[in-house]
Amino acid sequence: MRLQKYISRCGITSRRKAEKLITDGRVKVDGNIVTELGTKIDKTKNKVQVDNKYIELEENKVYILLNKPVGYVTTLRDEKDRKIVTDLIDGINERIYPVGRLDKNTSGLLLITNDGELTHKLTHPSFEVDKTYLALVEGIPNENKLEIFSKGLDIEDYVTAPAKIKILNKNKNESVLEITIHEGRNRQVRKMCAAIGHPVKQLQRISLGDLKLGNLQESKWRHLNNEEVDFLKKI
Ligand code: URA
Repeated sequence: MRLQKYISRCGITSRRKAEKLITDGRVKVDGNIVTELGTKIDKTKNKVQVDNKYIELEENKVYILLNKPVGYVTTLRDEKDRKIVTDLIDGINERIYPVGRLDKNTSGLLLITNDGELTHKLTHPSFEVDKTYLALVEGIPNENKLEIFSKGLDIEDYVTAPAKIKILNKNKNESVLEITIHEGRNRQVRKMCAAIGHPVKQLQRISLGDLKLGNLQESKWRHLNNEEVDFLKKI
């Protein structure tokens, strides 16, 4: 990018005034004064100073909701060469990454962004927002099991917080449960269902606080709208 364009993109001043800053000798690239207009810089490598102060590009913040299909992992690179969720998102130049994780075999709502501050907040253990899942499980839990589940369960070394659970659908051998938790332990829903004797066969996340999967098709994504971004920022 041309130096004057970079300076104006950083929100310092207009392109024309940036040219004046350069010709006045007030701009340094990697510590050296540059007075030539049109000097090209690499925004990922070069460090630019105006009046001896470092300046940086204000990154465009991107907030994406993906309907993750089964079979994709939520890491950025995979040593075993499995498919990764960001492969499903094209046309975005920013360096985006998933917020938190969904198991490879879980589908549904996944938030993807380049907002590091927000990611840090949402993945912090103290972050509590309702996450709702649809779980297809083996068998049909009875009233007693539903109560145990909702009060809190001992899963391995941990007792879960109260959760919501209801049966949405059932047949002879399996049932569909709607489960809402506000924690986010590793494989938590699967472990909770297994702990009451009803292992999960399929799992889909349908909401995260005010964010809803709605009728977004599997493997498709959309940008969050302003209200949804505001919701995330207010948490
Ligand atoms: N709970 C699970 O067991 N798996 C997920 O992917 C998310 C929540």
